[in-house]
Amino acid sequence: AAGAGVGAALGLGAALGVFEGPRGSGASGPSRPDGPVPFGGEALGCHGTHQAGIVTRAAAHVRFVAYALRPEVDGGALERMFRVLTGDIEGLTSGAAPLADPEPELAARPSALTITVGVGPGLVDRVDAALRPAWLAPLPAFERDRLDGRHDGGDLLVLLQADDPLPLAHAARMLDRDLRSFAEPLWTQQGFRQARGSEPVGTTMRNLMGQVDGTVNPAPAEDDFDSLVWLDDEAGWLAGGTALVLRRIRMELDTWDQIDRPGREQTIGRRLANGSPLSAPADADERTPADFEAVHPTGLPVIPSYAHIRRAHSEDPAERIFRRSANYDEGGESGLLFACYQRDPLRQFVPIQRRLDELDLLNEWVTHTGSGVFAILPGFAAGETLGAALIA
Ligand code: HEM
Repeated sequence: AAGAGVGAALGLGAALGVFEGPRGSGASGPSRPDGPVPFGGEALGCHGTHQAGIVTRAAAHVRFVAYALRPEVDGGALERMFRVLTGDIEGLTSGAAPLADPEPELAARPSALTITVGVGPGLVDRVDAALRPAWLAPLPAFERDRLDGRHDGGDLLVLLQADDPLPLAHAARMLDRDLRSFAEPLWTQQGFRQARGSEPVGTTMRNLMGQVDGTVNPAPAEDDFDSLVWLDDEAGWLAGGTALVLRRIRMELDTWDQIDRPGREQTIGRRLANGSPLSAPADADERTPADFEAVHPTGLPVIPSYAHIRRAHSEDPAERIFRRSANYDEGGESGLLFACYQRDPLRQFVPIQRRLDELDLLNEWVTHTGSGVFAILPGFAAGETLGAALIA
């Protein structure tokens, strides 16, 4: 291992008692109480038609890291970069630790770690601008956007997700180390959902406004999921990939808390307790379809005209997006890392966001402060390199 090598070269190993045994030497590790270990050892694997981390079960911890390519990075350097990334991803997600990982113990319990890689407009242009789909560009500006320049765009995106923040932090550091000669970090966004084990697997997440968030969402098992989310052969080098729109949305929780419960429920059109639509009985399941035609005896709509779900709902089935958001809460600010996947943001995310930008009572308490669009690369098989179809 490189770490031991450095120690030996400096002659410190023996003097400082540095561990120099070969990796996987059978050292027994720290003492551990007996008992079932529910998921630390879970490795999801990274190979397939699609990259892991998009339809795999939503993990508890999420980190998006964006990089800007160094000016001198050309096609040859990108090929090397993707080869290094591929090896790192294979090692880190399997728990085997990549080559020259000085802390392989931190990679040994991946806790369902996935690493998903996307590219921004600048990276594709470095290869050949003619290969860049029209949607791979900054989104059109929306009236209510307040982008502050701290979490926008990027040439390369690495999305790490795991049920334990320790292997996630380690993986992010290993990738960062190996990417440094190709790219500089631009921004990081750290997010979370409920801890694994706090709710039955498959429970819809709650956001920091307390709402059940993610109920009406295309499911991977549905017939039209592929045509909504995964790019096909027409997309050339992106076949098997997808488009990610990531928006950093700040929440004003102090003023939100001042609204009474009925007001908060009417803002969304759903109940806080169980996520059921206001048009269904109070104890209805969150999956009961919302009835947008339902009216009160007064004639007013049960789901108000300004309610978030009425404005976000698409009549056109091809306009839907696959949402996979996470919460953030740092530096005295809370909000949502709103992430959605689709074939074409200009036909899917943008018309929905235009409606919300125009009218959505939720806007009183949320502000979009960051925005990025990335092409999530197609998946890869063992022996293949991530991004090969782009570089070829
Ligand atoms: C539905 C919250 C931003 C698109 C919902 C629901 C909640 C919610 C609680 C109802 C449950 C569900 O189906 O998931 C929020 C919050 C946001 C936010 C707190 C900002 C902080 C957005 C944005 C978009 C969006 C930016 C897309 C442009 C949708 C869609 C639905 C939905 C498509 C389902 C509508 C339907 O019933 O057909 N959101 N949302 N949301 N949201 Fe949002």
